[in-house]
Amino acid sequence: MLNLMRRPTTVTPSMLAQAFAELGLDGQQHTIVHASLRSFGQLEGGATTLLSELLRVTATLSAPAFTYSTLLPSPTSAVYTQFHPRLRVSRDIGRLPQHMVDHPHMHRSFHPALSFVAIGEQARFITESQSLQSPYLPIGALYDLDGVALLLGVDHSSNTSIHYGEYLAGMPLLTRYVPLGEQVVPTAFPNCSSDFEHIAPFVSEQQVTVGRATLRAYRVRELVDGAQQLLRHNPEGLLCSYAHCRCREVRKMLRESGLSPREHQVFAHSKSA
Ligand SMILES: CC(C)(COP(=O)(O)OP(=O)(O)OC[C@H]1O[C@@H](n2cnc3c(N)ncnc32)[C@H](O)[C@@H]1OP(=O)(O)O)[C@@H](O)C(=O)NCCC(=O)NCCS
Ligand SMILES: [Zn+2]
Repeated sequence: MLNLMRRPTTVTPSMLAQAFAELGLDGQQHTIVHASLRSFGQLEGGATTLLSELLRVTATLSAPAFTYSTLLPSPTSAVYTQFHPRLRVSRDIGRLPQHMVDHPHMHRSFHPALSFVAIGEQARFITESQSLQSPYLPIGALYDLDGVALLLGVDHSSNTSIHYGEYLAGMPLLTRYVPLGEQVVPTAFPNCSSDFEHIAPFVSEQQVTVGRATLRAYRVRELVDGAQQLLRHNPEGLLCSYAHCRCREVRKMLRESGLSPREHQVFAHSKSA
């Protein structure tokens, strides 16, 4: 009995396919994914299986492909890493986005620290919408596409879409620096996401379990609108309370100047990639 209970759960490609179908993915959706491979227990074929199953059931698959090693605290900081489209994704963003970056048909946005990777129908629209002033604009593109955010074995603290809701609500943004070509340029940078679980009462979710993992799907529009609603009631409601987190600086700015709502406007070179 004990042995049976300890037997590792193996998730097969067909189990994954069934779970994705139960989440409502039928090949039409434009999606952003956040995943933990380890959360499944044992996934047959690892990130390769996860990526090919996701590509099969989505029209567009996108993900954060952040590279924090390029981030500089000041414009005069020494530059150790230059961004290029194949630069390795930070470990804490995960192995799935790294597999996406390794895919022959991937598009990756230009931002040296906060790039997004996308594959499929609207990959160009999503990745080309980004700017240094608004690094989370790819979420704005997904908002316009009525996209779906997938949390595969992770919680809202990985749910990047919420940052775009913060942006529209008018949360103060920090300034960081990134090397771009020969220059070091400023970029907007948000508070952390450790307390994003507070969004839960403001959004509806589809949920299934497969192996040991809980897979959840949300409409990007609900996440973005829900974050704005939460912040209108409680502007500090998504900031963490760790003493040494950058959220402390954001809270100070917020108390000085309050929220300054921003407009939702997505620009891109091409909508039909
Ligand atoms: C941080 C995070 C990536 C860690 O998850 P994780 O499961 O430990 O890491 P990955 O998804 O990269 O998968 C690699 C791990 O899976 C495990 N693994 C490898 N093959 C596996 C398989 N076939 N089946 C199951 N697990 C496997 C290994 O333990 C591996 O860790 P190791 O490289 O240290 O050996 C995840 O919790 C997360 O937050 N993902 C979303 C990130 C994101 O989008 N953030 C947005 C920022 S706003
Ligand atoms: Zn924080």
